[in-house]
Amino acid sequence: MIDYKEKIASKISSIANLDTGTIKQYIEVPPNPDMGDYTFPCFKLAKELRKSPQAIAEDIKAKLTSEDYVDDLIDKIEVAGGYLNFFIKKEVYISDVMNEALSQGENYGKTSGNVDKTIVIDYSAPNVAKPFHIGHLRSTVIGNALYKIYKFLGYNVVGVNHLGDWGMGICRTIAGYNMWKDEYDFSNNPINAILQIYVRYNNIEKEDPDFKIHATEVLKKLEAKDEETVKTWKWIIEISLQNYQKVYNLMNCQFDSYNGEAFYIDKTDRVIKELKDKNLLVESEGAQVVMMDEDIPPCMIITAQGTTIYATRDLAALLYRIDTYHFDKCLYVVASEQSLHFKQIFETLAKMGYEEYAKRCEHIPFGLVLDEEGHKMGSRKGNATTLEEIFDESISKSLKIIEEKNPELEDKEDVAKKVGVGAVIFNDLANSRIKDEIFDWNQILSFNGETGPYLQYTYVRTRSILRKAGQIPTASNFDLLNDAESYEVVRLIGTFKETVEVSAQKNEPSIISRYLLDLAKAFSRFYNEHQVITEDKAVQDARILLTKVTGDVIKKGLALLGIQCPEKM
Ligand code: ARG
Repeated sequence: MIDYKEKIASKISSIANLDTGTIKQYIEVPPNPDMGDYTFPCFKLAKELRKSPQAIAEDIKAKLTSEDYVDDLIDKIEVAGGYLNFFIKKEVYISDVMNEALSQGENYGKTSGNVDKTIVIDYSAPNVAKPFHIGHLRSTVIGNALYKIYKFLGYNVVGVNHLGDWGMGICRTIAGYNMWKDEYDFSNNPINAILQIYVRYNNIEKEDPDFKIHATEVLKKLEAKDEETVKTWKWIIEISLQNYQKVYNLMNCQFDSYNGEAFYIDKTDRVIKELKDKNLLVESEGAQVVMMDEDIPPCMIITAQGTTIYATRDLAALLYRIDTYHFDKCLYVVASEQSLHFKQIFETLAKMGYEEYAKRCEHIPFGLVLDEEGHKMGSRKGNATTLEEIFDESISKSLKIIEEKNPELEDKEDVAKKVGVGAVIFNDLANSRIKDEIFDWNQILSFNGETGPYLQYTYVRTRSILRKAGQIPTASNFDLLNDAESYEVVRLIGTFKETVEVSAQKNEPSIISRYLLDLAKAFSRFYNEHQVITEDKAVQDARILLTKVTGDVIKKGLALLGIQCPEKM
């Protein structure tokens, strides 16, 4: 495809005293087509040129529209405030976009130039010995989308599931198991039995703090690699992973590494040694801590009891990831509640002498999941709280809707699975991640709202139009798509690549979600105004191809979010 930004930037560059690359970075796609296809914010040059943005815009426009500059790419240039809006010649743009999308097919929007950049994404990371809880939904969904987005952009991506498989939590479960295992049945739903044991242990400890001794003893045994204890510990992890795997399969979610906290136990010595060598460890109330520069609490490394903690293991994980992956970026998709923790470990890493790597680390925080009354999900009785329950419920609700709407449909179960799972995922990604997510079943599964099912339905509609049309043409005269509604669809298709890139830059999958909603709505307007199957064969061909490309982009965009599309629904 023509690099419009590049072309426009080089034109501006020949007039303003600034290199093309810098100008190109400033050029944006305006929010609506009345403002042109590309816009250059002239206030970026105001300081340099010592003129008002408006005057700069007028100047550049005058020069670019003078006779020497007339060209075959730009239709007109307009000044709006300090912005210079460029309108690309429609015929050029439409056929450029359509030909590119059709010839690239599945790969449309893909980039291949980033293989030498490695991105580690740390996501999902549930704490074992409990069923997969709603509290880990967002990390899993957002991380999975980022994983797919970066892959599509050609990066070398390493997905890591930093399991919470060590510490007092699992030791309480093991202690309880040792005491009461004969009272439970592990044959049917072992993860539930294990959870009950944990809850029982915790309840007793709440009444009687001395009870903690049992778990502490287990932790000591585990550290000493006591055979029996290690065996139970491994078994609990295995049962937990079986439960997670069901959910990961439904969500089409993969990892390249399951190195959890336990993996780093024998690697924390190095952290402590390096900290000591740099004189960074300070005693504080019996514990060993690293003081922070900013106005934040110190980072604890060794507790008063002499044990390492979550932060120590995260530092060991960072050293391991530096050695193993030499990453260009390490993203932590973890709830905003842990912001302080990540500030502390990134700062500690920098103090240890790894400033460059510390700069490459980023915490990707997100908001809470609230039920329709605004309560934190899972905090009240009666709410589905495990991911398995949530997906089961979503799938069975979808099946019911499908049975009402389209009782004849084949493979209803498979379609319901894609719709039900997609609905939950899309709801999570529909708005910027830092906002709290509202979990309201009526909203999530609506076929008309801004939902996953709405997008899947739009895709299915494009496919049914194509089936009705029969033969799909291989080429067409795309000038016939220059009416307002068709052009808006083309324009959106033309910005797909840029949308994916921006969503990666900001680590914000919702940018793709919003884009897909815009595209689906634009397609509906097109479809309501114009008949695809029509008398004029040439017009019909162009519209069929527009329909095809729209469907392809919706399907690809949803796939990047981790959502699959049924062919019929
Ligand atoms: N298991 C942790 C939790 O549930 C999340 C781990 C996130 N990753 C990390 N490297 N700290 O809170």
